[in-house]
Amino acid sequence: MTPATRAILVETPTNPLMRITDLAAAADVAHRAGALLIVDNTFASPYFQRPFEHGADIVWHSTTKYLNGHSDMIGGIALLNDDDLATRLQFNLNAGGAVPGPMDSFLALRGTKTLHLRMRQHDANGHAVARLLAERLGAERVIYPGLPSHPQHALAKRQMSGMGGMISVELGTKDRAAAVLGRARVFALAESLGGVESLISHPASMTHASVPIERRAQLGITEGLVRLSCGVEDADDLLGDVEQAFAGM
Ligand SMILES: Cc1ncc(COP(=O)(O)O)c(C=O)c1O
Repeated sequence: MTPATRAILVETPTNPLMRITDLAAAADVAHRAGALLIVDNTFASPYFQRPFEHGADIVWHSTTKYLNGHSDMIGGIALLNDDDLATRLQFNLNAGGAVPGPMDSFLALRGTKTLHLRMRQHDANGHAVARLLAERLGAERVIYPGLPSHPQHALAKRQMSGMGGMISVELGTKDRAAAVLGRARVFALAESLGGVESLISHPASMTHASVPIERRAQLGITEGLVRLSCGVEDADDLLGDVEQAFAGM
């Protein structure tokens, strides 16, 4: 924090390493310095995490992901409970012109009506897949806040009511990651996340390819890291695919 700091922006859980920030502690740090706490709540969705209750001032989501849930639009939303701040942001939105189109807004709104149903299934599938991977590969290679082996499992349980469907797995080398990506069948190879269909991706060459290589190394986004977005399919279909795709890893 410096005297010029106006806001702290946190993403929790983070993409793709599933690190958790203590929201109440972050709000405390921000507010003592007269700054705002902004939370990217995309991974947890409002169904599993309610950052305003922990002191956040602005909560934002990529509506492309769980809120819409069907991978058929892109968009974002910023939520506030302060009318003055909302008016200022609204002015910037209107002046900048980056407003969502009506069809995209319709699709996102329609998606929110089933958010609670989808999130329960994402969470059940996420837990089942993470448990299987931990059993097969060793818990230290599976990054999922719902596993007791996650270093911030207790914090995650305190501030989230569910863990969702995002899992990362460390396979050690790019070749191993490529082998798994090539074998996966039910998990489709694609970048996005949070939709009803399960996806698998390689962050280092896909979502995070634009992050400089030294920064990726610092963060722990290795060539052997694979990210899974568990959809809402039957758990046995996902477990069967994971079993064959990760065999021998
Ligand atoms: C946590 C998080 N926030 C924001 C975004 C950006 O989303 P969009 O693709 O809608 O611009 C992403 C995309 O992966 C994300 O994972």
